[in-house]
Amino acid sequence: MRKLLVTGGAGFIGGNFVHHWCREHDADRVIVLDALTYAGNRATLATLIAEQRIEFVHGDITDTPLLDRLFREHAIDTVVHFAAESHVDRSIVDPGAFVRTNVVGTQTLLDAALKAWRVDGLWRENVRFHHVSTDEVYGTLAPNDPPFSEATPFAPNSPYSASKAGADHLVRAYVHTYGMPATISNCSNNYGPYHFPEKLIPLIIVNALHGRPLPVYGDGRQIRDWLFVEDHCIAIEQILSADVAGQTFNVGGRAEHVNIDIVRRLCELLDARFASDATLAARFVECPAARGIACDSLITYVKDRPGHDRRYAIDPTLIATTLGFEPRETLTTGLARTVDWYLTNEPWWRSVMDGSYRDWISSQYQRTLT
Ligand SMILES: NC(=O)c1ccc[n+]([C@@H]2O[C@H](COP(=O)([O-])OP(=O)(O)OC[C@H]3O[C@@H](n4cnc5c(N)ncnc54)[C@H](O)[C@@H]3O)[C@@H](O)[C@H]2O)c1
Repeated sequence: MRKLLVTGGAGFIGGNFVHHWCREHDADRVIVLDALTYAGNRATLATLIAEQRIEFVHGDITDTPLLDRLFREHAIDTVVHFAAESHVDRSIVDPGAFVRTNVVGTQTLLDAALKAWRVDGLWRENVRFHHVSTDEVYGTLAPNDPPFSEATPFAPNSPYSASKAGADHLVRAYVHTYGMPATISNCSNNYGPYHFPEKLIPLIIVNALHGRPLPVYGDGRQIRDWLFVEDHCIAIEQILSADVAGQTFNVGGRAEHVNIDIVRRLCELLDARFASDATLAARFVECPAARGIACDSLITYVKDRPGHDRRYAIDPTLIATTLGFEPRETLTTGLARTVDWYLTNEPWWRSVMDGSYRDWISSQYQRTLT
């Protein structure tokens, strides 16, 4: 039986991971530590909390006494570290918050694990620290460049990716310096259920349902490699289950697409759902599809993000050959599942769109639409 501390478990990927782990590892104990920033939602974990399947702790990864207590009281043997400030646009406005959580927070967590797991220079057996990171640490690619491998030098371009790169370097240094049994995964863009509607895919779905403009940065030709979030959770599960301490794995979906293609596919999926289900027009009266008008009529090109990376792509060979990991969902099946999830889980996304969300979205429009 494992005792997991999952940081950022009320966020998008962390929340999906906690659901996945509880489904697949019934006997394990799961403690979720989350500061419940604007991106964290207790609603994501409500059923698991109500069933006492997990213990939810509202707290910050920079809080050393709290971390020490959690390691001691719960005899934590596995850390899965998702907690982060994760939105590039916000990092351009407020880089300090990113350094505090992503760099200082990761170092504080590493220190707590070191203190709990290494006694008199000897490491406890069967412990693991897994750090969840991003492909953005590698910078940007030209159209014909080979995809990022684990050996690609770091070249972060935004305060977000720079802070994640700092965290990755710290984890690497704790492996090298102290022998910490840690692993790192650098993953491409995720999408799926419980995704906060400020990121591209949920933003497009929710805006289309409200009949609001669908903002597309610049020419919309930026390329991302998309991975359905459940596949990311499976990849992390495989890394945690294998004897690979000290290693880093790139995780991708073998699904490179330009942003405008993603937006158009989402519009087509929504148009098709409205055409086949008359109840949707009554529920979402502002959506153009409710009046038989294509959702792509809402597409609005906006001023590009400063320093916007052009292309990310992952070479997943190492995780495929070492652990046999392959994504189960294609972009077609994953986007369809995502649209259906948002159509059937309206209370969740309504509950997370509170005042601070609306303030942020409207400030984004003022910035990008001018
Ligand atoms: N979303 C992606 O496409 C993607 C891709 C690759 C890697 N990642 C990485 O995966 C991780 C999770 O990403 P996400 O999209 O789920 O992020 P998210 O923003 O949805 O969730 C982050 C969670 O961390 C919590 N948090 C923030 N600061 C905290 C602090 N100081 N202490 C405790 N909790 C805190 C938030 O409340 C939130 O629940 C991040 O480390 C991110 O860098 C994300």
